[in-house]
Amino acid sequence: MAEVRLDRVTKRYRGLSVNALQETSLTFKDGLFTCVLGPSGSGKSTILKLLAGIEEVTSGRIYFDGVEVTQVTPERRDVAMVFQSYALYPNMTARDNIAFPLQLRGLSRRERYRRVDEVAAMLGIGATLDRHPRQLSGGERQRVALGRAIVREPKVFLLDEPISNLDANLRMQTREELKRIHAQLKATFIYVTHDQDDASAMGDEVVVMAAGRIHQTAPPADVYHRPADRFVASFLGRLPINFVTGVVSAESGSLVLRTEEGPELDLGSGMNGFAVPRGRVLIGVRPEAVLATRADVGGPGVLGTVTLTEVVPPDKYVTASVEGWSVRARVDDADNLAPGDAVRLGFKLSSLHFFDLGSEQRLETELPARAGELVEAP
Ligand SMILES: Nc1ncnc2c1ncn2[C@@H]1O[C@H](COP(=O)(O)OP(=O)(O)OP(=O)(O)O)[C@@H](O)[C@H]1O
Ligand SMILES: [Mg+2]
Repeated sequence: MAEVRLDRVTKRYRGLSVNALQETSLTFKDGLFTCVLGPSGSGKSTILKLLAGIEEVTSGRIYFDGVEVTQVTPERRDVAMVFQSYALYPNMTARDNIAFPLQLRGLSRRERYRRVDEVAAMLGIGATLDRHPRQLSGGERQRVALGRAIVREPKVFLLDEPISNLDANLRMQTREELKRIHAQLKATFIYVTHDQDDASAMGDEVVVMAAGRIHQTAPPADVYHRPADRFVASFLGRLPINFVTGVVSAESGSLVLRTEEGPELDLGSGMNGFAVPRGRVLIGVRPEAVLATRADVGGPGVLGTVTLTEVVPPDKYVTASVEGWSVRARVDDADNLAPGDAVRLGFKLSSLHFFDLGSEQRLETELPARAGELVEAP
């Protein structure tokens, strides 16, 4: 087990004019499963390579359990890395690939193969052990590479999109396996992915990054429900979050959001202990948090016209035009809406995310509960 810490680490690759990793201080907690989540080119693999020691930091220090390892060679770091492109030995069978680290350690052949069989059963690749890498599918190769990491029982697992080649079912199974293996080994897992489902299924914590910078470190539910900034809000979620610019004001017991894109949105009478930011702000609201019903049903909300329908099982969604603002919303189960239909969209204050227009940082709106009144943020 080990706590892994980056202290003001930067990385600039030779010949590049920008840092692949901007100055970053970050702790991967001992025994936790942390997912590093971000789009392509954001610096995820760079972090892993620096931790593994196969790339040198440009500046800063790396510590394992408080001991500096910045200059320590990869072999002496007690980490196992599974690469994005599984690097298997082509001339060895899957069995010997997995057993290789144990051979280096001088374990008997019998003991090596016993461990390999155990791990192969865990990963569901028992039947492929006598084959060579070229005779394996991409997904099977990835699991052989995982097996080779697992048999080593390192203190730190560095996993770089190790299941990207698996089909949806196998991915789900392998996620469960990885969580189980993590619970068994109690090692520190650092798992790089661009897939938010990986992160929410496995991560105790998620580190969200973009363009070499960390935007948020939090449990999976928080990065979705309390995104730290505009980027995190837009990167998380199945469907793109809706953004508007506007001002919220209280008018005769009701809250109204005046948007610059067009409509005024009635947000109802608000809720206890909720602080409404003053002035112009950027507001994000997830499609799944906006409810679309047929306009003739009545009730609160703004009226618009359906321009597009789509199905994201198990839900149906519409995109509607509301006075020129295009907004995506979830359709109430019973309703069958088609393009051209008049639709009513219901917004709730509690599902709006507020961001500063300049810094794009989240503006906190949840205050400690107060008795029955709306409060405005200081
Ligand atoms: N060996 C290298 N030499 C020069 N530039 C590199 C090298 N490795 C990565 N980069 C650059 O550094 C940036 C970060 O790359 P990195 O591989 O860390 O991204 P990533 O988040 O892992 O992306 P992906 O999801 O596509 O794997 C990119 O702009 C990339 O082009
Ligand atoms: Mg990568």
